[in-house]
Amino acid sequence: MEQAVTVIKIRDGCRSDLAEITRLERDLTRFDRAFDPTLDPDWPASPAGREFYEARLSRTEGLALVAEEDGRVVGYLLGCLGKAAEYSTPELTAEVECLYVDPTRRGEGIGGRLVARFEEWARAAGARRLRVTVSAANRRALRFYRHRGFRLFDVLLDKPLVNAGGPAAGD
Ligand SMILES: CC(C)(COP(=O)(O)OP(=O)(O)OC[C@H]1O[C@@H](n2cnc3c(N)ncnc32)[C@H](O)[C@@H]1OP(=O)(O)O)[C@@H](O)C(=O)NCCC(=O)NCCS
Repeated sequence: MEQAVTVIKIRDGCRSDLAEITRLERDLTRFDRAFDPTLDPDWPASPAGREFYEARLSRTEGLALVAEEDGRVVGYLLGCLGKAAEYSTPELTAEVECLYVDPTRRGEGIGGRLVARFEEWARAAGARRLRVTVSAANRRALRFYRHRGFRLFDVLLDKPLVNAGGPAAGD
């Protein structure tokens, strides 16, 4: 029996993608909270969250890319350009802020296509570097980025001072 072949299209996001992006962002936040419990699960649906997504979707700040299959968004990337810190040389850097692929569609090249498209945009905009922040425990994502030319750069260290039972005991 012949199998139906569906084509996944990578395209620029637009304002009408807001509801789908918010839905997937909630999934991404739930996923990321396993690595970073400080993330606010309500932020994607908050006014600040909405403002952030609208800025990317309208391209007033950064850009949004979506992977679409039969009119359904199955992955997306949000990113922006960042200025160098005052104490750094003035190199323009592009940052991947959010990247998520529907769990049922992973390992088909969608994430790679989204990052490649973002890289094209960043180069055209004059960026000299790409950056992304990933939880140290998110091994799959770390491997994904490493295979696409990213290398460990800064390392953020964290020490919880309290736990569910009260102040953390010293060693
Ligand atoms: C990380 C993430 C975005 C990757 O998305 P993806 O669509 O699975 O990525 P790809 O399919 O392009 O690549 C994944 C693997 O599948 C393999 N692959 C790619 N295309 C393939 C294809 N056509 N057939 C078979 N395998 C393929 C690649 O070798 C790749 O392996 P690697 O990561 O070791 O290099 C996805 O796992 C995800 O959404 N994770 C949860 C959120 C997250 O961690 N986000 C990143 C933090 S910002």
